Amino acid sequence: MTEADGKGPETILDVDFGRLYRQHYAASGGREKPPEAWDVRASDLSRELEGSPYVEELLRLVDLTGCRTLLDVGCGPGTIALALAPRLDRVWGLDYSRGMLDAMTRHAAARGLTNVEPILRSWEEPWDVVPACDLVLASRSTLVRDMEDALARLDAKAKRRVCLTSLAGGRFVRADLLALLGRERPAYPDYIYVVNLLHRMGRHPRLDFIRAGRRPDEKPGFEQLARRVEFSLGALTPEERARLEAWYREDPARAGTGREPSCWAFVSWEKE
Ligand SMILES: C[S@@+](CC[C@H](N)C(=O)[O-])C[C@H]1O[C@@H](n2cnc3c(N)ncnc32)[C@H](O)[C@@H]1O
Repeated sequence: MTEADGKGPETILDVDFGRLYRQHYAASGGREKPPEAWDVRASDLSRELEGSPYVEELLRLVDLTGCRTLLDVGCGPGTIALALAPRLDRVWGLDYSRGMLDAMTRHAAARGLTNVEPILRSWEEPWDVVPACDLVLASRSTLVRDMEDALARLDAKAKRRVCLTSLAGGRFVRADLLALLGRERPAYPDYIYVVNLLHRMGRHPRLDFIRAGRRPDEKPGFEQLARRVEFSLGALTPEERARLEAWYREDPARAGTGREPSCWAFVSWEKE
């Protein structure tokens, strides 16, 4: 489209960010995992209930002003929901993994919290039973197939404010490992889509960044490394597995630093 053809210059208003995001998600190898894939990670992820640089920084950035109720989407074992619950009247944690919700309920009881309720539901199912809350939050749970739909859902359930974290530079497996396995692909779509989609929705997002550093694997050893790589990339062929194992045996200490350094964008907006 040019000025010469009478339609005027192409501008950012012509870009369909929702479609672009969905295309990018597919190109980056984004896969919807079954809830059972997350069930088995509930105990590993529960370690962060004791705190981590990411969790501390996120809690510093969350603004609870004027909020009595919280909906935490993709709540996992309650890492964020349970930290905020003592300052709120009611908290709902939504997740499609029963294992994660069971862990959240157990941890809430162990802390004497009686205001936390689980909702077994996915990002994609109808949300008619999901209550509207003052604050709606989604932490590290936003690598969805359809970001446009996810943002509309979060926004619709929030009475005062939404905050979410989205990848800033999107990889979970180190680039050198992807190359070793011949699985190079574009990084996952990240926060820049979120900002553009919110602009289109008439929202005025604030942006911060949480630099959480390189997280070591939860447990040492080749099996843990292989499990984590398969969690992100899908099943490895026997040949790929052998290559990964040779890489691991060559330098287990290097392998122990397993992941890419992670940086998360913290995006928040007010309901006007
Ligand atoms: C990395 S964990 C984040 C947990 C917690 N919010 C945190 O920041 O520590 C991602 C969570 O999203 C959930 N999840 C992934 N896909 C989902 C989907 N389609 N619908 C609902 N929950 C989903 C997983 O079960 C998991 O508990």
